[in-house]
Amino acid sequence: MNDTYRKLTTCLESVRAKTDFKPEAALILGSGLGDYADGIRIETAIDYTEIEGFPTSTVAGHKGRFVFGYVQDVPVVVMQGRVHYYEGYPMQDVVLPTRLMGLMGAKKLVLTNAAGGVNPDFRPGCFMLLTDHITTGIPSPLIGANLEELGPRFPDMSEVYSLRMREIIKLEAEKLDIPLREGVYVQFTGPAYETPAEVRMCRLWGGDAVGMSTACEAMAARHMGLEVCGISCITNMAAGISKQPLDHKEVQETADRVSAQFKELITAVIGKI
Ligand code: HPA
Repeated sequence: MNDTYRKLTTCLESVRAKTDFKPEAALILGSGLGDYADGIRIETAIDYTEIEGFPTSTVAGHKGRFVFGYVQDVPVVVMQGRVHYYEGYPMQDVVLPTRLMGLMGAKKLVLTNAAGGVNPDFRPGCFMLLTDHITTGIPSPLIGANLEELGPRFPDMSEVYSLRMREIIKLEAEKLDIPLREGVYVQFTGPAYETPAEVRMCRLWGGDAVGMSTACEAMAARHMGLEVCGISCITNMAAGISKQPLDHKEVQETADRVSAQFKELITAVIGKI
């Protein structure tokens, strides 16, 4: 058995020793949404530190735990705090939690994040439904021996973000009167924000938003056949689009300002997907 797969099964056994909860959907919470998990009907929670071999998050403001419970009667597992590549973990570890939620039984994955707006029509505080992504700026989480137990060596990525789910999300956003843009998410490693030249490059590539997470998780989830969707909260305009220097405080403040709307949308979406 491959080392990555062995680590994954060790983590799964560690979770299974604590709960046999079977989620239908998995949700990864981005900046500003961390407390969403506190508001759901919680069945049980497991701190990442209690899971043998689990990469534990170091980012300020991120709680590190899986919350198991129900959103609109749908059994869900929620990642309260994700693992980022810039924290120093190998990419296989960054996507371990995503794969673990798949092995717990989740068939659907809802990804959320905070992102910088590259599309000049965007404004801080608006939401973007991911239609596709570009991962050229990061190593692939699928590099290394293929985990045959999870998926194929050369997985198709022609519809990473499910068209079916996207239609549902657009409908729910409309019903809630929440304006929702659509676009392509570009992932870079971080932790430094991009330079204006990199942001211009993103625009030329066809990118609409830039961030430091999500696309690698979406790729790992698609590899194992999960149905995936993603929503970004545009917390700031990317470097060079506005004259203002970037600041993590601004990112958090914007995310917090619109978090009630974001939560409302996520709840409606989980009930329908
Ligand atoms: N760049 C990268 N990641 C981000 C940004 C950004 O401008 N804003 C929030 N996350």
